[in-house]
Order: sequence, then structure tokens, then C-alpha cells
Amino acid sequence: MNAELDQAALDQLFFVARSYNGWLDAPVTDEQLRRLYEILKMGPTSFNCCPARFVFLRTPEGKERIKPHLRPNNVKKTLTAPVVAIIAYDMEFYEEMPKLVPYRSDVRDLFAGNEALITSTAFRNGTLQGGYFLLAARGIGLDCGPMSGFHNQGVDQEFFPDGRFKSNFICGLGQGDPESIFDRLPRFDFEEACTLL
Ligand SMILES: Cc1cc2nc3c(=O)[nH]c(=O)nc-3n(C[C@H](O)[C@H](O)[C@H](O)COP(=O)(O)O)c2cc1C
Repeated sequence: MNAELDQAALDQLFFVARSYNGWLDAPVTDEQLRRLYEILKMGPTSFNCCPARFVFLRTPEGKERIKPHLRPNNVKKTLTAPVVAIIAYDMEFYEEMPKLVPYRSDVRDLFAGNEALITSTAFRNGTLQGGYFLLAARGIGLDCGPMSGFHNQGVDQEFFPDGRFKSNFICGLGQGDPESIFDRLPRFDFEEACTLL
């Protein structure tokens, strides 16, 4: 049976972890990015469809490419992050189903041509994988600064010109500057957000 994680682990993932708006001068290595992916990829998706795709901007030149598409309040915190990840999803994820569900040869055809099912499945599962991304990053000791304040179409044209991938959100990664966090905002209590039936 699984045991509950200890408080220190829960703190690192949830209670003490924050969304950062500024960064300390500490690098993020490619090895850390690989480790982050190796963890997050294990999170569940429907039909094991794994639609999320990730672009890591590590260089000033890479980050400059996203700059014109950012909302003004997100420019500085994005350009100063050691790494900026674009969390995207593949609108042709179903073409990969023979690899991902090898014992079900019918799954590709279940999706092909059904735009509504493709869109909802790609966005739902791509977003879930974005959540796994945040928690995996925190789990390996990185801080996150997730952002949706950018022009998705512009980012898609710049980074995914063939139209197959769509950007969902972006996320700064590094060691967060404790001076950069806002006051913690309230969350709903159990009674406000949950129903026991
Ligand atoms: C998907 C997503 C998009 C966000 N977009 C922005 C953004 O564009 N700009 C920004 O300053 N913060 C953004 N945030 C940060 C949220 O405001 C922050 O996570 C929330 O207030 C909780 O803060 P905390 O984690 O420090 O408690 C975003 C967070 C998420 C998860």
C-alpha cells in the first residue's frame, strides 16, 4: 500500500511552493530538463494519448523569439528566467496511437476526422500533463512561473508554423527569487469546493 508523502515533500510540491515572478542567478541544466520529462511523462492520460509537447527556451536568442508575443507584465519575468518552457499539445496525437497503445489497432481511427473529440482530448490531456510538469519540476527542486498571458496564435506561428502543435501555457523554470512572489491568495475551503454524496 502507498503511504502519504512526508510533510517536507508535500511542502515542496504544494504548501511552500509558489508561483515565481523573478529568478536567482542559477542555471538549469539540460540534464534537469531530461529528468523533469522522465518524471512527468509517467502521469496518466486518456488512452495513454500523451499529447503534450514541450519546447525549452534556454538561450537569449530562443527567449527573444517569444518576446513579441508576451503580455507586457510577463516580459521581464520570462526573459530573465533561466529556462522558459512552452507547454503545447499535438493536434495529431492520434497518429502516434499505434506506438502508444500497440494492442489496440482501432484507436487511431476512433479519433481521425472527429475534430471535436481530437480538440477536447488534446487540450484536456495536454493540460493534465502541464500540471504533471509543474509538480515534477517542483519535485526535482526547480521553481515554476506558469503564464498564460501571451498571444497563443503568435507563439504558434513562430514555433509551430506547420500548425500541428498548439501552445497551451508557458512556464519559467529556475530557482525562484523569494522577493518576487506576491502575497499568497486565498483558496476555497473544502465546504466551498467539494460535495460529499
Ligand atoms: C496556467 C497558468 C497561467 C498563469 N498565467 C499567469 C500570467 O500570465 N501572468 C502572471 O503573472 N501569473 C500567471 N499565473 C500565476 C498565477 O497567478 C498563480 O499561479 C496563482 O496566483 C497562485 O499563486 P501561488 O502559486 O504563488 O499561490 C498563471 C498560473 C497558471 C497555473
